Amino acid sequence: MLQLPILEVKDLAVSFGRGAWPAVLGLDFSLAKGEVVGLVGESGSGKSITAYSLMGLLPFGANLDAGSIVFMGQDLAKLPPEERRQLCGTRMGLIFQEPLTALNPVFSIGEQVAEIFRYRLGLSRAEAKSRAIDLLGHVGLPNPGAAYHNYPHRFSGGMRQRVVIAMALALNPDLVIADEPTTALDPTIEAQIIGLIKKLAAERGSAVLFITHNLRLLIGLTNRILVMYHGLVVEELTDFRDLRHPYSQGLWRALPPEPGKRSDRHLEPIPGYSPTPGEKFRGCAFAPRCSQALEVCHILAPPFQTLAPQRRVRCHLSC
Ligand SMILES: Nc1ncnc2c1ncn2[C@@H]1O[C@H](COP(=O)(O)OP(=O)(O)OP(=O)(O)O)[C@@H](O)[C@H]1O
Ligand code: SF4
Ligand SMILES: [Mg+2]
Repeated sequence: MLQLPILEVKDLAVSFGRGAWPAVLGLDFSLAKGEVVGLVGESGSGKSITAYSLMGLLPFGANLDAGSIVFMGQDLAKLPPEERRQLCGTRMGLIFQEPLTALNPVFSIGEQVAEIFRYRLGLSRAEAKSRAIDLLGHVGLPNPGAAYHNYPHRFSGGMRQRVVIAMALALNPDLVIADEPTTALDPTIEAQIIGLIKKLAAERGSAVLFITHNLRLLIGLTNRILVMYHGLVVEELTDFRDLRHPYSQGLWRALPPEPGKRSDRHLEPIPGYSPTPGEKFRGCAFAPRCSQALEVCHILAPPFQTLAPQRRVRCHLSC
């Protein structure tokens, strides 16, 4: 049975320079409580801008042009800035791609985690320290009491990412957005970090939007996948073996063989490039790169066709 959504995004459009450089062109998706959903796409497809829009952290010059973001029944665009900030630090958590940018180099790891409990929950210094040490242990830092006093530059990338995960999940948020949290890590640490996010989110009942450019990472992690191309979701699916959009199929074929596994399959990169934001074209944005393009694809943009619940495809071949 489908659960009621905790997040509903409708027609979300974001641009830089007031429409001159559109980054997200009209996103529609929802997330239910406890669900883990993958958002996958090539570089520049709009994944991070989507994440920043949800968190209210759009960079300077970016504008939310249209659409709504309803989180737990509240339209975020209509909330006063202070309430929005409060919600984002408590009920929504963000795990950044590069943990060093998320951690302050001049404060110890422990102080940064304890700060959340002091500032958000009003705990005393001693209580906050005790909660922080517990949490550092829970995310797998060995000797959390000593780690508490250490600084970010003394930790490996994997350890730093564990700290960032601890901070994002500290207050048991209803929604966690993980923006390519393992890109800078080797495959063994990557698998550990993904396992940790999955375990902690399940323990806390948090929904997760897991952003990646690697479709394979989502296997076994997510209940549902949204494939993003040029600012739009072009496919939504629950079974990764049923990729129908030629772009999704291309992403799959472009994956290198699994680490440690032999494969006779040749790596097939998707030819060409995505249009630059604001570039004028007719029809489907993927048409110049699509080996299955029909005449109509160069004239009319395909509609986002619903084939079944949680199964949508934006392609003339599926109409
Ligand atoms: N600060 C910025 N100023 C201007 N344009 C930007 C800025 N940040 C992102 N963009 C543009 O917005 C579009 C979407 O970028 P976004 O960062 O969301 O892509 P992405 O899918 O997260 O890519 P990646 O996989 O490389 O992280 C791109 O065309 C990008 O050039
Ligand atoms: S609509 Fe046409 S060009 Fe676009 S992905 Fe489908 S077949 Fe390819
Ligand atoms: Mg990004």
